[in-house]
Amino acid sequence: MKRKKGWIAGIVVIAVIALLFVGYNIYRYPAMFRSLSDNSLSDSQVGELREEIFSQADVKVLVAYFSHSGTTKNVATALSEKTGGDLFEITPQDDYSNVYMQSNSEIRSNARPALTDTVENMSEYDVVFVGYPVWWHATPAPINTFLESYNLTGKLIIPFCTSGESDIDETMSTFLNSCDGLAVYGERRISGTGQIDGWLSELGLTGNAAQPGDETQVEPSETEPVVSEENNETAEVSGVDGKTLIVYFSWSTSGNTEKMANTIRERTGGDILEIEPAVAYPTDYDECGDVALVERDENARPEIANLPVSIEEYDTIFVGYPIWLAYHNLIQCTQG
Ligand SMILES: Cc1cc2nc3c(=O)[nH]c(=O)nc-3n(C[C@H](O)[C@H](O)[C@H](O)COP(=O)(O)O)c2cc1C
Repeated sequence: MKRKKGWIAGIVVIAVIALLFVGYNIYRYPAMFRSLSDNSLSDSQVGELREEIFSQADVKVLVAYFSHSGTTKNVATALSEKTGGDLFEITPQDDYSNVYMQSNSEIRSNARPALTDTVENMSEYDVVFVGYPVWWHATPAPINTFLESYNLTGKLIIPFCTSGESDIDETMSTFLNSCDGLAVYGERRISGTGQIDGWLSELGLTGNAAQPGDETQVEPSETEPVVSEENNETAEVSGVDGKTLIVYFSWSTSGNTEKMANTIRERTGGDILEIEPAVAYPTDYDECGDVALVERDENARPEIANLPVSIEEYDTIFVGYPIWLAYHNLIQCTQG
C-alpha cells in the first residue's frame, strides 16, 4: 500500500513539473500557436527586383526602426549614416510601462498597436531597412503595424534586429506574416555597429547606398589572426563612463585577443593589462591543449605574475580571453 502511495505521489510530482514546463514555454513563445503565413516574394523574384533597383543611378534608402531601450536605435543611426539613408523611428502611441506583459500579450493576440507618426514620402524609397529588438523570440507588434501601414510593393525590405542572444531567424515568421507580396531579404542580427560594413557589403550596398557595390568580400589570409577589418575602425564606445580597464589573456602565438583588447583600448581610452601567467604556456598548440585540459579538470587557478595590487579605481573592466578546448569538448560529446 505504502509503495502504491509512493508511486502516485511520484507521478503527481512529475505531472506538475511537466505542466509547469509546458506553461512556461507557452508564455515564453507567445507566437507559438498563432497561424502565420509567408506570402513574401521568392528568392528569384527578390533577385530580379534587386538587380533592377541596384541598376539605378540613385538608390533611396530609409532606415526605419523601433527601439525600446536604445540598442536598436544606435544600430539604426549608424546604419543611416553609413548608407546615407533617412532615419525614421517607429513609435507606438502607448508607452510600454510594463513591457514584458504588454509585449507578450500583443504578440500572442496578433495585435497592431497604433503608431504616432507616418512616413509621408514612403513612395520615394527603394530600400527600406526595418530594425527592432527581438521580443519573446518574435517581432515586436509595432513592427507589424508599420509593415502593414504602407504599400511597400516594389521596394527591398531588409530586416535587422538586436537581441540578448536570439538570432533574427526566430523572428522571421512573425515578420513575414506582414509581408504579403513583398521582397524581403538580407536579414541580420547586429550585435555591434562594427558589423554593419561587412553586412552592407554582403547586401551589395557599399558605404553609400546610392552606389551599390560589388558583393565580394575580402577574406583575411589564413596566416593572419582572424580579426575582421570592420572591428578595426576607430569609433567611440558609447555607454562606458568612468575609468576603464581592459584586462586580457592572449596566447602568444595567435594574439587575436590581444588585438581585440587593443581595439577596445583605442575606443575607450582605458588602461590595459595583459595577464601574464607565472608559468608560461607551451607555444606548441597540442602541448598547450594538454596543459589547459589538466587545468580545466582540476579547476586550477594558475598563479599570475603581474597581478595588480588593486583595481578599485576602475568603474568598468573588460575581461578578454580566447575560448579553449571547445573542439576537445565537441569530440568528447560526439564520442558520448
Ligand atoms: C519584452 C522583451 C522581450 C525580449 N525577448 C528576447 C528574446 O526572446 N530573445 C532575446 O535574445 N532577447 C530578448 N530581449 C532582449 C532584447 O531583444 C535586447 O535587449 C535588445 O537589444 C533591446 O533592444 P532595444 O534597446 O532597441 O529595445 C527581450 C527584451 C524585452 C524587453
